[in-house]
Amino acid sequence: MALVTGGSRGIGAAVVADLERTHRVISWSSEDADLGDPASIAAAVAELDLDRLDVLVHSAGLSWETPVDAASWEDWERMFRVNVFGVADLTRLLLPALRAAGGAVITVNSGSGHRSAPGMSQYAGSKFALRAFTDALREEERGKIRVTSVHPGRVDTEMQVALQTARGNTAYDGARYVRPESVAAAVRLAVDATEEAMVEEVSVRPVRG
Ligand SMILES: NC(=O)c1ccc[n+]([C@@H]2O[C@H](COP(=O)([O-])OP(=O)(O)OC[C@H]3O[C@@H](n4cnc5c(N)ncnc54)[C@H](OP(=O)(O)O)[C@@H]3O)[C@@H](O)[C@H]2O)c1
Repeated sequence: MALVTGGSRGIGAAVVADLERTHRVISWSSEDADLGDPASIAAAVAELDLDRLDVLVHSAGLSWETPVDAASWEDWERMFRVNVFGVADLTRLLLPALRAAGGAVITVNSGSGHRSAPGMSQYAGSKFALRAFTDALREEERGKIRVTSVHPGRVDTEMQVALQTARGNTAYDGARYVRPESVAAAVRLAVDATEEAMVEEVSVRPVRG
């Protein structure tokens, strides 16, 4: 059994399609659980009523670029709620089922989980925090569950279209970017790791930089 957040679109949808070859997959969109709202997360997990969970993929996320002098408290909060707090709380609630199955948690992070840049304080800040969460979880649960951080560069999804449009790029060319299926292949590498091995971190970046 696998659960994929953000499974309705983009990278998450590609992960769902790939995992369905080998697992029963529950795919969540924002309508199944608002990851920015702890009550919504708790209700959705209670409804699942899972004793065992083999794979949890956190793909849902928000992204935008804002300079620090325009970054509102509300936007900081919204970004961190979905990209960090929701991931942490959903993981916490599902840990008993993951431990029971000797399962795997995969967080879809970003190159921005390692590097920040102008306009990226909120997004990169949330992804740095997500990496800190993922690294801590891996060590706390070592020997019980496997924990992997996947760091894509730019991927051809609606998120990337919106980012490029906001930058004024009127000639979006998705072929320049990584395909969602290539990120799903990195998730598959982590899921298929043999029992004694753990894929701890993977970067998947466009060939053309
Ligand atoms: N695209 C890139 O270039 C890129 C690069 C590096 C890392 N990433 C990361 O990869 C992940 C997936 O990105 P993507 O490009 O596939 O994004 P996307 O196409 O914009 O899809 C975002 C997904 O997140 C879900 N979501 C958004 N807000 C949510 C909320 N409050 N509660 C629950 N679900 C919510 C959406 O559900 P709905 O369909 O219901 O709205 C959708 O399934 C993100 O974590 C992103 O940061 C993306």
